[in-house]
Amino acid sequence: MTDETHPVPSDPSHGFSLEYAPAPESTSVVTIADDYGLFIDGEFVEPRSDQMFPTVSPSAETHLANVAAASAADVDLAVGAARRSHTDVWGSMPGRERAKYLYRIARQLQERAREFAVLETLDGGKPIKESRDVDIPLAAAHFFYYAGWADKLEYAFPGRSVSPRGVAGQIIPWNFPMLMLAWKVAPALAAGNTVVLKPAETTPLTALLFAQLLQDVGLPPGVVNIVTGAGATGAALVDHPDVDKLAFTGSTAVGKQIQRAALARGVPVTLELGGKAAHIVFEDAAIDQAIEGVINGIYFNQGHVCCAGSRLLVQESIAEPFVEKLKRRLATVRVGDPLDKNTDVGAINSSQQLAKITELVEVGVAEGAELFQPDCVLPDSGWFFRPTILTNVQQTHRIAREEVFGPVLSVLTFRTPEEAVAKANNTPYGLSAGIWTEKGSKILWMADQLKAGVVWANTYNQFDPTSPFGGYKESGFGREGGLHGLAPYLSVGPMGGQIR
Ligand code: NAI
Ligand code: MG
Repeated sequence: MTDETHPVPSDPSHGFSLEYAPAPESTSVVTIADDYGLFIDGEFVEPRSDQMFPTVSPSAETHLANVAAASAADVDLAVGAARRSHTDVWGSMPGRERAKYLYRIARQLQERAREFAVLETLDGGKPIKESRDVDIPLAAAHFFYYAGWADKLEYAFPGRSVSPRGVAGQIIPWNFPMLMLAWKVAPALAAGNTVVLKPAETTPLTALLFAQLLQDVGLPPGVVNIVTGAGATGAALVDHPDVDKLAFTGSTAVGKQIQRAALARGVPVTLELGGKAAHIVFEDAAIDQAIEGVINGIYFNQGHVCCAGSRLLVQESIAEPFVEKLKRRLATVRVGDPLDKNTDVGAINSSQQLAKITELVEVGVAEGAELFQPDCVLPDSGWFFRPTILTNVQQTHRIAREEVFGPVLSVLTFRTPEEAVAKANNTPYGLSAGIWTEKGSKILWMADQLKAGVVWANTYNQFDPTSPFGGYKESGFGREGGLHGLAPYLSVGPMGGQIR
């Protein structure tokens, strides 16, 4: 943008600058303890395992706190507490009373939204703009929404008897810690279940703050129990014989293990796993809006999104100018300190994830893809990855087949709608897809053909608690959100049954 006739002074002393001044969000609103125990039966308790592990800030690589690593014995205590509270209190509490607690949780989340957003960003690395405007408001919205169902289960399943399943074991990932907590905890509680939740090992802090919030709202002890730890803690929860229902969001590999374990015990399970979404742009699309949609689709939350639009399928007739525009737009994306209110792309969640992204992009280039990365300055410390566009990508490339879970877009082209469908569906996954075209009939035809649980048209990444979300094939099964998300937490009896 600078040329010889119109130099743009970047030094503020020249009077103006096109650089954004730093706009850091204050962290004074959060208090982080040195150590956190497990949240069992309404109290923070020391782990029987005596094991602790650190959680760090991905943007500064600094230590934040030590968190308990729950052993199988700790998980057993948590499940026992959940069972007792289900039998004695929560399972038989009238829905209208359960609803009051859920509304109280929702309101508290709103009141303390800034605290939760800052902590989410500190522990996970996502931009404060996103935790403030998306993660936390949506988490609260899920509690409000499911609070509304708690006393209306007979309308949800008319004429049927419904009863809670009992104790729900829930395992969540690190990409949307509070939002995934809300997706799982809110419907479970509304339906009358009690919960043992295992947060991800790199992002446990907001779940532990949520535990404090539950104490503040006076939720009866044992209704929600939170056991921190890594995969072994998750596996102990999956294998516990007294868990009645399992729900998991995470990698396909772990999802398959959990499915096997659940099948062996005959426990119902819902799995929300990876994705490799096609984001399809036709030549008749509103191009500028599509550019924004594609950028949001893949660079939102550093691309740590199961439904990320990681494969751009652009119609050949507009491919060249579209990709040029996309590159120009990408150059304006601000990468850096997640706590800065202007940051669009924050830190990669862990050094392992950064290594995975780096490796897959290197493989892509070695396989013949052409790499584009804007010339942005990355912070000196922390785990960061330049937002990336790979062109010349073939369907056989690993970069076109495997989930990168990072800010990396692979570009492919197509000529006809049939070819777009064939390429979009040519993946073991089936979670989401996006379509950009001015033609409504094309949208309907495409949406019908695409093997994806969620299809967005002329928009992307729209989430709402009333709308079910979930996948096909290796993206898992079962739905979260809406009535579909309530059903897995209930045993629904035959027609004519009594309502509890
Ligand atoms: P992961 O599947 O290992 O972790 C997700 C959760 O499962 C965490 O809470 C973890 O502690 C737990 N877990 C791990 N092993 C377990 C086991 N054997 N039994 C029960 N629980 C277990 O995912 P990870 O390693 O953090 O990420 C690897 C890749 O998985 C990512 O690069 C991404 O491609 C994908 N992923 C997809 C997510 C999604 O939203 N669908 C979320 C996180 C990761
Ligand atoms: Mg962390």
